[in-house]
Parts: sequence; C-alpha cells; structure tokens
Amino acid sequence: MNTRYRYLIGSLFAVSLLLAAKGGVQAAQINIPAKPAYMGSAACNGRCHDPWYQAWKNTPHAKTYELLKPGVRAHAKNKGKLSPNADYTKNPNCLRCHTTGYGQKGGFIAGETPISSVMPDMEAVGCEMCHTARGGNQAMAFMKETDGVFKRNKIEVWGLRYDYENVCRRCHGHPKSPHKPSIDPKYSFNYKARKNHVHDYEKYYNELNKTQTYKIKHGAGVTEKHPLMIEDWDVVEGKIQFKKLPLWDGWLIYKGK
Ligand code: HEC
Ligand code: HEC
Ligand code: HEC
Repeated sequence: MNTRYRYLIGSLFAVSLLLAAKGGVQAAQINIPAKPAYMGSAACNGRCHDPWYQAWKNTPHAKTYELLKPGVRAHAKNKGKLSPNADYTKNPNCLRCHTTGYGQKGGFIAGETPISSVMPDMEAVGCEMCHTARGGNQAMAFMKETDGVFKRNKIEVWGLRYDYENVCRRCHGHPKSPHKPSIDPKYSFNYKARKNHVHDYEKYYNELNKTQTYKIKHGAGVTEKHPLMIEDWDVVEGKIQFKKLPLWDGWLIYKGK
C-alpha cells in the first residue's frame, strides 16, 4: 500500500470514529492491526494482573484440559454420548473450547504445548479467550501506544474487547458444543449468574500487588454496546478452520444495529 492510500484510509478511519463518537452507529468500525497472537495466561501473572491470575487459576476454566482425559467426568461424558474412556486431548472437536488459541497464532498445540498443574497457561480457557478478539492480543503494542493509560476505547483498537456476555457464547451454548441443555439443563447459560465465578480477584489483592489494576476506571469501550462478531470455526478433515468474517483482513465489524 502506498503512503497516499494509507493516508486516505487513515482519514476515513478518523472520520468514521468521529461519526461513531457522535452516535452514528453505522460507522462503528475499528481497525485491528493484523498481527495479534496469543501470549497465554501465565504472562499476565507476575507483572500486571497477579490477583486476576491467582483467582482464575483456582476456577474450572483453568482446568478444562483435564476434562479431555480418559475417565475424567465419566458420568457427564456418558450422559452426553461422549465416550468416557476415550482420550480427547488431541481432538480438534474439543480443543477450541477447552484450551487457549487452538489453531491460531501462538496458541495451544496438541502434543507440543507444555501442560502444568501448578501454572496453568495455554492448556486452559485462559484470559485471552474472554478478553481478546481475532486471535489474541497485542499487549506490547497497546502498552506503548497508550502510555500506560489503559482507556478501554483505546486498547480495544488493539484487540481487547468488553462484550463479555457475547464472548462467553464462543463456547457456552455454541452450536458445536456437545453439551446441550437438552442433555442436562445445567448447561444452559445465564451470564449474570455465572460471571461472578470467573475470577474473584478481590481475595487475592495484598500488600505486594496492590498497585496493580485495582478498581481503576478505564472509561467505556465501544464493544460494550456493539458486540463484535464471534470468530466461528469448523473442523474440516481433522483440522480446525476459522471462518472468514466480512472484512477479515484487518477489520472487524460490529454486530450492532
Ligand atoms: C463449543 C465449545 C465446546 C466444545 C466444542 C466442547 N466443549 Fe466441553 N465444555 C464446553 C463448555 C462451555 C463446558 C461447560 C458447560 C457448562 O458448565 O455449562 C464444557 C464442559 C465439558 C465437560 C464437563 C461436563 C460436566 O457436566 O461436568 C466435559 C467432560 C467436556 N466438556 C468434554 C468435552 C469433549 C470430550 C469435547 C469434544 C468431543 C468437548 N467437551 C467439546 C465447551 C465445549
Ligand atoms: C471466562 C472468561 C474470562 C476469563 C477466562 C478471564 N476473564 Fe477477566 N473478565 C471477565 C469478565 C466477564 C470481566 C468483567 C467482570 C464484571 O464486569 O464484573 C472481566 C474483567 C477483567 C478485568 C477488569 C477489566 C476492566 O477494564 O475493568 C481484568 C483486569 C481481567 N478481567 C483480567 C483477567 C486476567 C489477567 C485473566 C487471566 C488470568 C482473566 N481476566 C480471565 C472474563 C474473563
Ligand atoms: C473458550 C471457551 C469458553 C469461554 C469463552 C467461556 N467459557 Fe465458561 N467454561 C468453559 C468450559 C470448557 C467449562 C467447563 C469447566 C468444568 O466443568 O470444569 C466452563 C465452565 C464455566 C463455569 C463453571 C461451571 C460451574 O461449575 O458453574 C462458569 C461459572 C463459566 N464457565 C462462566 C463463563 C463466563 C461468564 C464466560 C464469559 C465471560 C465464559 N464462561 C466463557 C469454556 C468457556
């Protein structure tokens, strides 16, 4: 792309942001640069989000890989017509929802990614499965770009997202989930009831980490009101394939009105 063209696109983008700011939802598009990658959850610990990691580590989301092993939750597997003694740990039909970034850049690779019971990372439903769009995040880029002032509407341009209820449905209630409410009503999904169990970070704040993102107001993001499309996927000949979204190459559009 030559410079003039780039400038033109840049101006169009600025204009659309202006319109969006004035409430013109038709222009609610953001440009997410095309190089996101998954970093894993362990990277969020020991730096900026220790209490969140510590809290998450003790929740079912941090142990989702375990469920794919033979014999684990045999009763539930039986009930759901899954085979209780099969090894699903390399099965592409399960890994998208039970690990982080499976089939995408930097994400989980069956048979290669290390598994740890002490420091869960890629082998879990990690931070990035709920907090990012389009294949991971660009933490280094937005740290630099925002000068450490993490306003939501600024960092979501780099792939962070705040349409949480929408994002849960990447997995909970997704059409490809084998865990249908018709099998067991406990699989139906109520966001308000469940969101409080995601990471109860308050308990993990202490003298050492209290300077980290504690009750900081980050302002409102655009994605809160205009949920992003969910990256959809399919398994074709034993391999996961992500469906192209409209304008996939660099743009995500909001599903809003
Ligand atoms: C579309 C996403 C998705 C796919 C694909 C998926 N799972 Fe799950 N799995 C989930 C979610 C979400 C839950 C939690 C359900 C809940 O608590 O309502 C879950 C829960 C489970 C549980 C615990 C169920 C219980 O009642 O205790 C097992 C076991 C499991 N999955 C195994 C598998 C296996 C094996 C596969 C592949 C054959 C698979 N899953 C594919 C999303 C998925
Ligand atoms: C299952 C989805 C999910 C996972 C996994 C998850 N989070 Fe969250 N996170 C949420 C939701 C939902 C909220 C908003 C909670 C609310 O509004 O009460 C949130 C809020 C946050 C916030 C506050 C953001 C803000 O701008 O106010 C931080 C920081 C955070 N999470 C960090 C993490 C870290 C670090 C991890 C991984 C160790 C993680 N989260 C894993 C769903 C998730
Ligand atoms: C990448 C897939 C994925 C995403 C995204 C996801 N979950 Fe889950 N969730 C799972 C799996 C798999 C389990 C099963 C854990 C188990 O049964 O041990 C689960 C379990 C849970 C549980 C524990 C089940 C229980 O015992 O009550 C809660 C609560 C939950 N999810 C809430 C959420 C919320 C809220 C969001 C969105 C902010 C979300 N999840 C997003 C995959 C996901």
